[in-house]
Amino acid sequence: MSHSKITKNGSRRILITSALPYANGPIHLGHMLEYIQTDIWARFQKLVGNECYYVCADDTHGTPIMLSAQRQNITPEELIAKSHQDHLQDFNGFHINFDNFHSTHSEENKFYTEKVYQSLLDKGHIERRTINQLYDPDKHMFLPDRFVKGECPKCGSADQYGDNCDSCSATYNPTDLKNPKSAVSGATPILKDSEHFFVKLQDFENILKNWLKDGVSQQIENKLNEWLDVGLQQWDISRDAPYFGYSIPGHPDKFFYVWLDAPIGYLASFKNLCDKTPELEFDDFWKKSSDAEVYHFIGKDIINFHCLFWPACLHATDYRMPTSVFAHGFLTVNGTKMSKSKGTFIKASTYLENLNPEYLRYYFAAKLSGKIDDFDLNLEDFVQRVNSDLVNKYVNIASRCAKLIKKSGNQLHASIDKPMLLKEFQQSADKIAQFYEDREYGKASKVIMQLADKANIYIDEQAPWKLAKDESTADQALAICSMGIHLFHILSIYLKPVLPQLVSQVENFLKVDPLSWQDISKPLVSHELNDFKPLMKRVEPAQVEKNANQLGRSA
Ligand code: MSP
Ligand code: ZN
Repeated sequence: MSHSKITKNGSRRILITSALPYANGPIHLGHMLEYIQTDIWARFQKLVGNECYYVCADDTHGTPIMLSAQRQNITPEELIAKSHQDHLQDFNGFHINFDNFHSTHSEENKFYTEKVYQSLLDKGHIERRTINQLYDPDKHMFLPDRFVKGECPKCGSADQYGDNCDSCSATYNPTDLKNPKSAVSGATPILKDSEHFFVKLQDFENILKNWLKDGVSQQIENKLNEWLDVGLQQWDISRDAPYFGYSIPGHPDKFFYVWLDAPIGYLASFKNLCDKTPELEFDDFWKKSSDAEVYHFIGKDIINFHCLFWPACLHATDYRMPTSVFAHGFLTVNGTKMSKSKGTFIKASTYLENLNPEYLRYYFAAKLSGKIDDFDLNLEDFVQRVNSDLVNKYVNIASRCAKLIKKSGNQLHASIDKPMLLKEFQQSADKIAQFYEDREYGKASKVIMQLADKANIYIDEQAPWKLAKDESTADQALAICSMGIHLFHILSIYLKPVLPQLVSQVENFLKVDPLSWQDISKPLVSHELNDFKPLMKRVEPAQVEKNANQLGRSA
């Protein structure tokens, strides 16, 4: 894989997506790992001057959403409308800066889903075949794997789902379960025939293998070899009524499987954005010869959908394939899988009631890499990291310099006290940019905090508060504090993708226009500041506990 781009010239056109959250559940901190990771990348691309769009949508179709609406006695449309509001509120709360957040239940998505299907059909990639599946005779519906429960065929454990066993990890077909019961009605399922539509993925084997070579990391390629080594299978893209989704043209009782229309939601959301943005052309990004870049950020659980099915669909439709797919690992809390019963299932909205979203944005950034390893949110480490890095190192620089500068009418000194130190800060720009580009945010944060340490050491050594006491050295004290602000200015640019809200307060304090990467080389010599206001409070462990207690209650 060699698509690591140089980001300096600002001439790239980039479309970025995060996976579409299901519309039948709340956003939790596991989701937020992905949206924060993507948002930092999108903000970074914009900060360096690239033309960049970040789109997403709700994933609204499928059996779980249909049944969830039934249980709540509302229509699926009502359910997804409510989720849309809730999701947007959580995303706004965490400063996720989508250029568009759309829905797979939309005109655009119906249009592109039919288009993709028609292309697959015209090119002979669709095959129809009758299969035999478990059917709920009371509910009159076929049962997806997760809606059948019974005894594991291997170890006999009771109450196991139709696809795999929680207790012995065996995988099997739902028809293998002993004493199967419908999880919807409790009825004993029967076997029933139905004709299904399949995409012949084998047709795309060479195309996909070629694309994977430059399109994804070695880690992802290894994961996909599980599929490729045994030969690609046909992919079932139809479901029978009743189903909440789009019916297949010409077959009113058959519906497109949610995983067909879900990634098409990326196209739909982008198209919807184009229609609202006069200078933006859908084809410029999606036509085969496009030189724009397209990146999908996803979790490791949905790699096959994005790296096999999705590029195949794009190829068949004569659209370009993604430049790359970036996968991250799963969030654990204090070392264990998020769990409702253990009180570690933290909803985004619960977090926001108690804690500053930028604490979490920073914590994620400080520990994220470009790999698919799992990510642990350790609550003690979280408090420690945020307080020591953000409050004691970064913000501290401004607060300790601001007081003395205010005494001189908030006007920075006309000279630069330590040009070499300033240069060192400026010359870190390329290295930090490359770490952001490679999604090595942990490495970027480390370099930034090392610089922050240097700034603090410089101020400690120069001790401007002592010099300020004497009339004859007061000017020197101002020069030192001004130097502190120049360094703080640069650090703020480096941190802006991670801490957009905090840095907007900084912009106000520095009395500058929204900071961009170019400003690194423009120290604020003789510049006038606004009065300093406290920028960020320490995280109190009690706040985190409150969060945890509330979790217990909401679980
Ligand atoms: N709707 C599908 C995605 C369709 S994309 C065309 C889906 N939705 S999801 O709500 O279950 O997950 C959305 C994203 O969040 C996925 O990329 C998923 O991997 C990620 N995560 C969900 N739980 C997560 C953790 N606990 N940790 C990290 N990421 C997690 O999948
Ligand atoms: Zn078992």
